[in-house]
Amino acid sequence: MNAVAAAEGLPTTWEDQANLGHVLVPGEVDLSHNVILYLEGITVSFDGFKALNKLSLAIDAGELRCIIGPNGAGKTTMMDVITGKTRPDAGKAFFGQTMNLRLMTEPQIAHAGIGRKFQKPTIFENHTVFENLELAMKTDKRVRRSLFSVIDTETRDKIAETLRVIRLDREADRLAGLLSHGQKQWLEIGMLLMQDPKLLLLDEPVAGMTDDETARTAELFLSLEGKHSLVVVEHDMSFVDQLTQGRRKVTVLHEGSVLAEGDLATVQNDQRVIEVYLGR
Ligand SMILES: Nc1ncnc2c1ncn2[C@@H]1O[C@H](COP(=O)(O)OP(=O)(O)O)[C@@H](O)[C@H]1O
Ligand SMILES: [Mg+2]
Repeated sequence: MNAVAAAEGLPTTWEDQANLGHVLVPGEVDLSHNVILYLEGITVSFDGFKALNKLSLAIDAGELRCIIGPNGAGKTTMMDVITGKTRPDAGKAFFGQTMNLRLMTEPQIAHAGIGRKFQKPTIFENHTVFENLELAMKTDKRVRRSLFSVIDTETRDKIAETLRVIRLDREADRLAGLLSHGQKQWLEIGMLLMQDPKLLLLDEPVAGMTDDETARTAELFLSLEGKHSLVVVEHDMSFVDQLTQGRRKVTVLHEGSVLAEGDLATVQNDQRVIEVYLGR
């Protein structure tokens, strides 16, 4: 039931968790109930129009969750709420057991371990791939080193590891501006990974990618599952199929709430889901 917890030697059942008496580390996300993100009754109104309408959603630690839904369903607004960009009118939003996202600023939320990838990559085109990863490293601003100072072995190893994960190790010394569209998207994901996010939010990550790049992106996300939790919003159903492989959960949003949840085949055969997709 809980491979991540088991792998880390954490309790895997509710009874074990309840008996453990967790010692919390300040600033660390508390995953003692195995839920990394918990939304309950989130409502967001724009001039009376409810972009989110009592949205409730829970993502497990280490889970890879796909969110689908027609245009205007509220998918991007949901990410805006999670990252603190948009303030909900009502509802609960928690990161782990203890961090109340509604009380945190955007930078605090990012620092706590929620990373977001926007559709348009925000890479430094005139720097190399390696330098982009170096610049993205989480460092104390007071001791931020310039690009040209010597970097420590730990940083170098971390960059090398990230380059392998995003499959750009052979492009390390290329200018980022010269990468293909797909490679730029992977570099931006690498830049997010340099900050050790616990939860990654990815809004339409394969838009504009070739089929081959899309397949490689699915492999990349699957390789991150477990160590990170991922929430992937996507229109491309073949990509969702590659990511979920018939067993991971898909959530369908419609008019700001959850319409259906289950494996892809089940939700695609749900009459209400068929109607909202046909009706758009
Ligand atoms: N800042 C805003 N002001 C007014 N309406 C907005 C704003 N952001 C989103 N909306 C509306 O909220 C609804 C949900 O939008 P969005 O979250 O972008 O949907 P999705 O990402 O699922 O396509 C849409 O009808 C959109 O027009
Ligand atoms: Mg959107």
